[in-house]
Amino acid sequence: MDGSTMSRGLLRVLTCGSVDDGKSTLIGRLLHDSQMIMDDTLAAITRDSRKHGTVGEEVDLALLVDGLEAERQQGITIDVAYRFFTTPRRSFIVADCPGHEQYTRNMATGASNSELAIILVDARKGLLTQTRRHSYICSLLGIRHVVLAVNKVDLVNFDQQVFDRIVGEYATFAAGLGFHTMVPIPVSGRFGDNVSTRSGNTPWYRGETLLEHLESVGVEEELTQIPFRFPVQWVNRPNQDFRGFSGTVASGAVAVGENIVVAASGVTSHVTRILGPAGDQKRAVAGEAVTICLADEVDVARGDVLAPIADRPAVADQLAAHLLWMDEEPMLPGRQYMMRIGNVWTSASVTSIKHRVDVTTLDHQSATRLSLNEIGLCNLSTAQRVAMDPYARNRLTGAFILVDRFTNRTSGCGMINFALRRATNVHHEHFLVDKAARATALHQKPMLLWFTGLSGSGKSTVAKLVEQALHRAGRHTYSLDGDNLRHGLNRDLGFTDQDRVENIRRVGEVAKLMVDAGLIVLASFISPFRAERQMVREMLGEGEFLEVFVDTPIEICMQRDVKGLYAKARRGEIANFTGVTSRYEPPGAADIVLDGGSSQPEALAQQVLEVVNRRLAAG
Ligand code: ADX
Repeated sequence: MDGSTMSRGLLRVLTCGSVDDGKSTLIGRLLHDSQMIMDDTLAAITRDSRKHGTVGEEVDLALLVDGLEAERQQGITIDVAYRFFTTPRRSFIVADCPGHEQYTRNMATGASNSELAIILVDARKGLLTQTRRHSYICSLLGIRHVVLAVNKVDLVNFDQQVFDRIVGEYATFAAGLGFHTMVPIPVSGRFGDNVSTRSGNTPWYRGETLLEHLESVGVEEELTQIPFRFPVQWVNRPNQDFRGFSGTVASGAVAVGENIVVAASGVTSHVTRILGPAGDQKRAVAGEAVTICLADEVDVARGDVLAPIADRPAVADQLAAHLLWMDEEPMLPGRQYMMRIGNVWTSASVTSIKHRVDVTTLDHQSATRLSLNEIGLCNLSTAQRVAMDPYARNRLTGAFILVDRFTNRTSGCGMINFALRRATNVHHEHFLVDKAARATALHQKPMLLWFTGLSGSGKSTVAKLVEQALHRAGRHTYSLDGDNLRHGLNRDLGFTDQDRVENIRRVGEVAKLMVDAGLIVLASFISPFRAERQMVREMLGEGEFLEVFVDTPIEICMQRDVKGLYAKARRGEIANFTGVTSRYEPPGAADIVLDGGSSQPEALAQQVLEVVNRRLAAG
């Protein structure tokens, strides 16, 4: 068969560029030149071009692409817009992503679905921070083919030297990004040079036109050619006689009769039936939604992954991944997020940031947090063991998102480097004497009273009185207090947000052990963030955690200023002081709210004791 006329199937293309690089015009030109513009659309554009007047009397091809009126008015593109066009040789889906840094999320979304990126550079400006940033994100998200479109060559008089200089600079930068092909092309989106027809203005350029290249470039790694992965979406059991696992084949293919393994449990079986929309089928490939039946009554739940026995995913609760942060609220190690990986939702946190990547120089920097649009190589820990592949091997089973537990925003996306095996040989030791036995011996229901509030709100004062009363009543208690623990266990921690997260994480672990020992624990910590208070609540059993919000207005805390810290903070002598230069997030639904401004500590302690005694009496 003649290779030049053979259809090469579908190519997913991402276009990246800054606001004025002429990205939309270039895509418009591609669509126009591949004769996909309907006559009436063209008429409308001609009209609009006059209205907006960005290119005088010519047709502004960017209007073909910039669908949204708001974008037109501002002259920028703000969402991921997908365009579809087709030539006799290939079909294309073009994801057009906004250039601004604040749209990194859209860029990552577009990149994760694309096989080739057109990196646009304005010939007059050369490489920009955005160019490097986009290239790095493309590389991170698994794009292996890049076109460096040096645009607006008409505005530099089709000068070869300008082109060569930009290409040289880019090649040096991109050397470490793992691109399999990097093809530089001098183009003019506006006039069409080297877009679909070779330009007479650039006789020094002997390469392919942009369209020729897009039509012919070979992108290996079809999803159907990598190992079979089937994340189970739901267990389909309409009656006693039928049990199948429904979901979409993430990668590879499976056929009736093949042996498979349930990744997490390691249990094996073989496929007896595959049901598709039209009934039984012999085979299913990546992208198909099917129901798979197995020969044996194996335990399979939503989120499990079916895979070939000989080529199974890793299963772990620790992993190393590049994390791209997309939330205004920074990522703090130790904080719990919800992770979605495949069809599994599990709680997860970053245990350490190995380094942050400077996306313009690719340098590694040390970091204690990740802010909006930052990328870091992190170790993460998940509550549940999950099946995973390195992202470089599988873009579906190697990716995850992190969701903020309170706002439900997608805060970060991760590309897995590898599963970490460090904790696999550590098992939970079960003792012969357990929490219940210890509690019985102490004649009490163990619990944790968590006092939260501003510095000087009266947390410790009330906690002390509560403890004294409990002790007098023969209860076994222990107090944990911010000021005290910060002299010992937590003396390496300061008052940055990330240190406060770690402070509470450690205190939570210690308190949990003490509750396990059968004690009634009183913890007094500012604990300014609701995420960590919630985390401690979840570390304990039902009814064991009692959140006591000592709600004292900051004005009163400042007046009291027992330790003189507010005065210092206001003079600027203490950084990150809660209520002054650092946030306090009041609880929305504390178990007990104490009005620390107006009542006496004894009365407040009494309020707490009533609730505690009721819980103790209930057993
Ligand atoms: S927390 O925010 O991490 O929960 P923690 O309760 O352990 O704080 O410690 C708070 C105590 O540390 C305060 O009562 C105060 O005495 C002292 N402190 C010193 N610097 C600060 C600061 N910048 N912000 C708040 N408290 C501080």
